[in-house]
Amino acid sequence: MSLLTVDSLTKHFGGVKALEEVTFEVEPGEILALIGPNGAGKTTCFNVINGLLPPTAGRVFLDGVDLLDLPPYHRARLGLARTFQNIQLFGGMSVLENVLTGRHLGLPVGPLAALWPGAGVRRAEAHARRQALDLLDLVGLADKEEWPAESLAYGERRRLEIARALAQEPRLLLLDEPAAGLNPRETEDLMELLARVRERDLTLLVIEHDMSLVMGLSHRIVVLDQGCLIAQGAPAIIRRHPRVIEAYLGREEEEEESEEGRDGSLDSSPIQ
Ligand SMILES: Nc1ncnc2c1ncn2[C@@H]1O[C@H](COP(=O)(O)OP(=O)(O)O)[C@@H](O)[C@H]1O
Ligand SMILES: [Mg+2]
Repeated sequence: MSLLTVDSLTKHFGGVKALEEVTFEVEPGEILALIGPNGAGKTTCFNVINGLLPPTAGRVFLDGVDLLDLPPYHRARLGLARTFQNIQLFGGMSVLENVLTGRHLGLPVGPLAALWPGAGVRRAEAHARRQALDLLDLVGLADKEEWPAESLAYGERRRLEIARALAQEPRLLLLDEPAAGLNPRETEDLMELLARVRERDLTLLVIEHDMSLVMGLSHRIVVLDQGCLIAQGAPAIIRRHPRVIEAYLGREEEEEESEEGRDGSLDSSPIQ
């Protein structure tokens, strides 16, 4: 059975058709990329999947469970975690504390136990801390656990957000433009990180504009344009798909050409 099923998903904002009968599935263990020009409906798709927005019509299932009447925290408990296009961290909190906020979903601690922690709670907290430190090690931030999150460099914040999402021990991780704003070197590091993350028995749904990352990492690609799914398939097929080239890839290449001479700076969102 598919891990995630998105079935005829439709989301309208007044007259704006952000999603129009979008249907696709994510298989367990795969890395599926969701691509398309800006405004195609990619982030809206994530927002409906994780419960930040109700759909206008359609359904979403995680491992056969209908998600639509469940609030975001309940979906998170079922194994759904995400990161945001605009990084969302607790800036004043330490790097380690940020990871622990992800973990608290899984801690068996009610309000009373938190006030009078017994041995069980302390054990659970020690375990959470060890797990958080392991995740910081995984994302290359182990030496910065005490730093305030706001003092991290941009690429480090992106990695911290991934560590926090992983602290939820999700089955499906949704990443919204994880390479946005990263330089080519950082993008390569991110690719390696995502490959390692996937070895943890995790399924990834990734929105991304960086085609080297999309083509290099994903098993399958779903393409949205103006709210509609226009193609899906293996990277080699999507790369040559006429509608995808017309709606997205062709325009991206033109943008890249016109960007040459801007000392290699990468625009995170090539199509505005
Ligand atoms: N909360 C919202 N209210 C109104 N319109 C929205 C909202 N979120 C997204 N939209 C609109 O829906 C369309 C799809 O947006 P979005 O999902 O952010 O696209 P993408 O992530 O592919 O760039 C855009 O036209 C956008 O302006
Ligand atoms: Mg978006």
